Amino acid sequence: MNIVPMNDRHLDAAWALTQQLKWPHRREDWQQALALGEGVAAIENGELIGTTLYWRWGDYATLGLVIVADKAQGKGVGRQLMQTALAALEGHQLRLHATEMGKGLYEKLGFVATGAIVQHQCRELAPGERVAPEASQNLRDARRDEATLLSELESKAHGQRRPALITSLFDSAERFIVLEEQDSIAGFACLRRFGHGFAIGPIICRDLRQAKVLVSELLTGLEGEFVRIDTDSACGLGNWLAASGIAQVDAPVLMYKGEPWQPQGMQAFGLMSQAMA
Ligand SMILES: CC(C)(COP(=O)(O)OP(=O)(O)OC[C@H]1O[C@@H](n2cnc3c(N)ncnc32)[C@H](O)[C@@H]1OP(=O)(O)O)[C@@H](O)C(=O)NCCC(=O)NCCS
Repeated sequence: MNIVPMNDRHLDAAWALTQQLKWPHRREDWQQALALGEGVAAIENGELIGTTLYWRWGDYATLGLVIVADKAQGKGVGRQLMQTALAALEGHQLRLHATEMGKGLYEKLGFVATGAIVQHQCRELAPGERVAPEASQNLRDARRDEATLLSELESKAHGQRRPALITSLFDSAERFIVLEEQDSIAGFACLRRFGHGFAIGPIICRDLRQAKVLVSELLTGLEGEFVRIDTDSACGLGNWLAASGIAQVDAPVLMYKGEPWQPQGMQAFGLMSQAMA
């Protein structure tokens, strides 16, 4: 078995791994994840049997899409993939979201559980009450020349500096909106195609009401569509989503190896994805 750097030629086999797990990723989702980061693949007799992707976002890095094919599990492949990724990420503070199956492996590698994220989704969005902006607030499309500013806001929420991700969202997101308050940007959110339908995230702003205003705006017009939002279990958005018919379906464990980030005035109410955070 060899561990090799992942490239586009591995994408079909990697996508097949998530399909076997009934994870929702489209091939495009894999492609975007790899384009924004790096990965390692486990190859045995010419066949891809495992993957681990990681993203360097400044001082912090995130890891995800850690998968070993059913038939190859329990033989140390997951550990070797992770150890290769950890060696490449030396010096970074690390964050990931663990499935029940992955948690034991990550604990053995020094990751510590600090909380949970919650996955909310609905197959067909029902019409619902929307939260309107206040008189001092204004919603509008984000502009490309605001990418640096939006990346700064995001880094205050979770410590990750992701200008390349923000820039890519101008091309890939269906909608990319900002919430202005007293004429300055108080937060932003994206509506993207992902998995079985649409995903909303990142969602970055100061408080829960602002998050509801941003999400409400992006839900407008999505009645009948599959919608998914991954959010921090402690931030309070989950209860409102559930009351809006977007139910919780999973709660992966939030784990850090290194210093957990303390938010500085901004919060991440929605993740880009469970893998990228
Ligand atoms: C999680 C996963 C990647 C582990 O890969 P693997 O190749 O089977 O794991 P390994 O054989 O390398 O095991 C590594 C270590 O973790 C331990 N471990 C693995 N799964 C475990 C579990 N569910 N609970 C506790 N410990 C576990 C093993 O005992 C082993 O310990 P050791 O090295 O001290 O002997 C694999 O089970 C998988 O693909 N699962 C489905 C997808 C998934 O949930 N991925 C995690 C996403 S966050």
